[in-house]
Amino acid sequence: MGAGVKPEIKIFDTIEAQNQATAAAIIKLIAHTLSDNTTFSLVLAGGNTPRQLYEVICAQHRRSVAWKKVRFYLGDERYVPHDHRQSNFRMIRESLLSKLPVPSENIFPMPINYTVIADAARAYESILRSHFNSDWPQFDLALLGLGADCHTASLFPGSPVLAEQTRWVAAATADKEPRQRLTLTLPAINHAKNIFFVVDGSEKAAAVKKALAADAEPICPAAMVRPESGLTTWWLDKMAAADLTMP
Ligand code: 6PG
Repeated sequence: MGAGVKPEIKIFDTIEAQNQATAAAIIKLIAHTLSDNTTFSLVLAGGNTPRQLYEVICAQHRRSVAWKKVRFYLGDERYVPHDHRQSNFRMIRESLLSKLPVPSENIFPMPINYTVIADAARAYESILRSHFNSDWPQFDLALLGLGADCHTASLFPGSPVLAEQTRWVAAATADKEPRQRLTLTLPAINHAKNIFFVVDGSEKAAAVKKALAADAEPICPAAMVRPESGLTTWWLDKMAAADLTMP
């Protein structure tokens, strides 16, 4: 393992049980943090997997915490309009944000309306820098997914963005449509206080194994998520965990 504390791995027989437990852990973290802080910074994952988790949060935890004290960010975005069917923000708005009592001023979608995508990355970074008066953003919790190719956020195998050590947000290129992406960089993710990977399904089992191996780094971006001092927890259903050899 790289820097930081060894990840915790939690495995569930069903996706329903996994989402219930993950939602409860998110709520517990928010409540604990807000007991002696005024805000909670939450990075949301895109893709399809988190949709059910977000729906559980809305169904069971609409009144569990002071949602108006939570600031919502995105870990990555496809460079398409926010009402596009492949927009992460559209999925997040539909499955989560439209159902929680969150003021719009606490929701920070990644901008997709710049002609030059690098300008959009800079614009999002300046928003983050205005919220975090530190060398790196220290998100209270970052939710991440995992691709079958071991990508996370929009950090893809072989991407030059994996070497980024200065920027907090970067433009990236995916090998599937929509190809243009925005993503938090590895150091921006690795300074989070808590990271939750939420992964389901047998098609991810090989990637989960690689991501948790000690020596997979350059070909497995998810293996490069090693928070400096934060805690990483993997929330897996048993299919995604099928290739792990547990002690
Ligand atoms: C995206 C996500 C990406 C996602 C993985 C897994 O923009 O697609 O941020 O990193 O988490 O690709 O996607 P699924 O959950 O759809 O399998």
